[in-house]
Amino acid sequence: MGMNVAAKSAGKPGHPIPQSIKKVGIIGAGQMGTGIAHVVALGGHDVVINDLKPEAVEESIRTIEKYMTRQAEKGIISEAQVAPALERIKFAPTFGDFADCDLVIEAATEDEAVKRKIFTELCKHLNPSTMLATNTSSISITRLASTTDRPERFIGMHYMNPVPLMELVELIRGIATDDDTFVATREFVESLGKNVAVSEDFPAFIVNRILLPMINEAVYTLYEGVGTVEAIDKAMKLGAHHPMGPLELADFIGLDTCLSVMQVLYEGLSDSKYRPCPLLVKYVEAGWLGRKTNRGFYDYRGETPVPTR
Ligand SMILES: NC(=O)c1ccc[n+]([C@@H]2O[C@H](COP(=O)([O-])OP(=O)(O)OC[C@H]3O[C@@H](n4cnc5c(N)ncnc54)[C@H](O)[C@@H]3O)[C@@H](O)[C@H]2O)c1
Repeated sequence: MGMNVAAKSAGKPGHPIPQSIKKVGIIGAGQMGTGIAHVVALGGHDVVINDLKPEAVEESIRTIEKYMTRQAEKGIISEAQVAPALERIKFAPTFGDFADCDLVIEAATEDEAVKRKIFTELCKHLNPSTMLATNTSSISITRLASTTDRPERFIGMHYMNPVPLMELVELIRGIATDDDTFVATREFVESLGKNVAVSEDFPAFIVNRILLPMINEAVYTLYEGVGTVEAIDKAMKLGAHHPMGPLELADFIGLDTCLSVMQVLYEGLSDSKYRPCPLLVKYVEAGWLGRKTNRGFYDYRGETPVPTR
């Protein structure tokens, strides 16, 4: 599906690498930072990647190698693309390593305080011309931009999970984002073989404004005993033709991220219809965050996933 389109077109004629963006910094080597590094390196850019935990970067680079090799085996990319793309990815132990980046994409934990701290610290190290992007799923771009010394060169660049597979990237301008930044980042995203949807800067933008309340409602459906985990997922897969059930999808996204997005919607739009389901809160409090911790609405520790309720 999408991976073929995205990976095959990256760096090909018709998708020229934007001259203005050669070196890209990525902050956060979790599932999203890893996926972004993967497609950006395949797109011909140099990548430097940082995480609070250096071992997360090591794991991230191993994951990229594994998935790129698999893509080559399936003929989605050529064998010859793999080694050069992997060589373009380097670990950045400090924000000082981002100084000469043309673009830095922040993909750290979905927590406004964490992101604000990152941007405040990061800006001290950057060339004045470096553009900044955030992969936030929900937080105000305008508000995050205001924590930087360059709100006009700041944009929301919201990739979908898993990044190598999904065709869409939402671009969100903050109130101050200038036209040059918008045009350069749009060209950059398109050069990776992705399609852009432009969203205004409102909580959770377009995709998550629609998707997360659906997931939250699925958790309420479980909470109120309307259906079991399996019944809810089966109902939406077979009854609405969704490729994944909503609870399976929640585990895939990460329940902490789902909860954060619902909190941003609830607070940002001051509307009770976005109230996070107490059961979602409970799972997050238990540290059952989905696939990344091996347990969420399903337990992934065995051969096949087993519902946890
Ligand atoms: N998971 C999804 O489906 C999805 C989809 C689109 C966007 N996003 C967004 O992408 C971002 C990352 O999500 P994820 O799913 O990759 O989360 P994750 O939990 O897999 O990874 C987050 C990473 O950020 C690191 N981190 C935290 N604080 C940091 C700091 N101060 N400096 C450097 N690294 C730091 C953590 O150590 C972790 O490795 C969030 O803003 C999320 O909303 C997630």
